[in-house]
Amino acid sequence: MKATTDFIKMKQKAEKITMITAYDYPSAKLVEQAGTDLILVGDSLGMVVLGYESTVPVTMEDMIHHGKAVKRGAKDTFIVMDMPFMSYHLSSRDTLINATRLMQETGANAVKVEGADDVIDQIKILTNAGIPVMAHLGLTPQSVGVLGGYKVQGKSSDEAKLLVENALKCQAAGAFAIVLECVPMQVAKEVSERLEIPIIGIGAGSDTDGQVLVYHDIITYGVERVAKFVKQYTNVNEAISLAIDQYISEVRIGAFPELKHSFQMKPEEVKSLYG
Ligand code: KIV
Ligand code: NA
Repeated sequence: MKATTDFIKMKQKAEKITMITAYDYPSAKLVEQAGTDLILVGDSLGMVVLGYESTVPVTMEDMIHHGKAVKRGAKDTFIVMDMPFMSYHLSSRDTLINATRLMQETGANAVKVEGADDVIDQIKILTNAGIPVMAHLGLTPQSVGVLGGYKVQGKSSDEAKLLVENALKCQAAGAFAIVLECVPMQVAKEVSERLEIPIIGIGAGSDTDGQVLVYHDIITYGVERVAKFVKQYTNVNEAISLAIDQYISEVRIGAFPELKHSFQMKPEEVKSLYG
């Protein structure tokens, strides 16, 4: 398993870092088998596996429940857990208790927090306490209500400068990496060049130190529409729907199960059963 310092070394050697989300045992197993550098137990689970409209309703209990399953499926991969909505804003004490629960109860290696401003202090407090923190800037989905929707961030030069400043502050506070979501590629390039810690992009172009995407988006599983920045490498919805349709119709016409799916008694047992 890689360590936080390995990700910085990868950046220095210009080796791209790969991160993929996972939410349960089978997704974690497949993602680990594929050899990803990090797994993110994203609070996007609220949308892609729990059916909420945003990540805001996701609770600590939801995160822990899914995080435990992910760890069982991916024992040898560095796992980052999203701190859910409002779990790192009330007080430093609450932040520390919640981050500790996420790590101790699931066996994950780090936590991720969204935003700058007051969150910077929390990054510092967590890091000082021994908890590796991944920051998340640009489009921060937990603030969708304040941002007014899922929109590209940092489009003006003033906004872009603020983003660079905030990224530097996250680094100074001790963050070991930063997710940069939905920003113009020029901004992501600038941030990646200015920082020592790796920048993991999503909708941030190809000049970042790594990339992250949501598992369900990559394979088109459950999701219907995906954002512009997603590449859909396959469509498992089609495979699943086809299989389920066939199962239902074969049961209805009596084509399933076949003999090979059935158990047999020995002939003499059958004879004595019917007398
Ligand atoms: O929750 C999530 O999946 C995320 C990634 C999109 C970075 O935060
Ligand atoms: Na998230």
